[in-house]
Amino acid sequence: MTRPRITVVGSTNLDLVATAEKLPVAGETVTGATFAQHPGGKGANQALAACRLGADVSMIARTGEGPNRDAALALLKADGVDLSGIVSDPEEQTGVALIAVDKAGENQIVVASGANGNLSPDNVKIEGAPDAILCQLEVPTACVLAAMRTKSGLFAVNLAPAAPVPVELLETADLLIVNEGEAAFYGDGIHRGEGMVALTLGGQGAVLYRAGKEIARTQAFTVPVIDTTGAGDTFCAALVLALAEGCEEGEALRFASAASALAVTKPGAQPSLPWREEVDAFLEDQD
Ligand code: RIB
Repeated sequence: MTRPRITVVGSTNLDLVATAEKLPVAGETVTGATFAQHPGGKGANQALAACRLGADVSMIARTGEGPNRDAALALLKADGVDLSGIVSDPEEQTGVALIAVDKAGENQIVVASGANGNLSPDNVKIEGAPDAILCQLEVPTACVLAAMRTKSGLFAVNLAPAAPVPVELLETADLLIVNEGEAAFYGDGIHRGEGMVALTLGGQGAVLYRAGKEIARTQAFTVPVIDTTGAGDTFCAALVLALAEGCEEGEALRFASAASALAVTKPGAQPSLPWREEVDAFLEDQD
């Protein structure tokens, strides 16, 4: 099978992760955590996941110029994502995410967007007519709209983190991907277009709709949960990849669910992203 070509327009962050017994409530200090640093950012996570799952991936993003840039791009570079569309910003720092993870694998994330917030539509140069374009909302919406207007292949948007967007985006996307919180934020607006909507339901699996009607559903896979960070990004990348490969919708949804299940079994966002062989073997074991 030829590898689909996917362009990701989105964020790159450096994730600073504290893993503790419990997550703090407002005003609380939790001690005794362990610390780790990983590359992250929803865009970069999705780009790396698509690459590991079998796509040729180009990334369009904006970083700062200091050592955090190298750390944030390290795994994308190591795994062969095309980074020629990543620009350096002399004025801003590379994005940083402060992440707390508890013993159940749940997280809290605060993002200091830095250079991600300066990505501009002029930076969004999509070349080579990719089979799919995948965006999220950690970069300015104008950049997502610029990607949409290139009209190349499947246009998918992960509406995360939830934020107001023009109706045109919701109605034009071929695929919108939301979790339950994001679905509640957008309400019926996500079902107004003719495209598909994928809704992830955590332990209840995922559902795929087209023009408001359910067309596929998958159960969640039972796995040991270490860290849920990056699982949603893995789902997005895997679903887009499978659809770009021409998979039937139900099969694509099951593939995405399996890939995201594997992502929660390891710590960190990018270090936990599974390779294609792992997902295929996991699915074979389920049959
Ligand atoms: O989706 C997980 C990602 O959200 C983390 O890697 C963090 O950088 C934030 O962008």
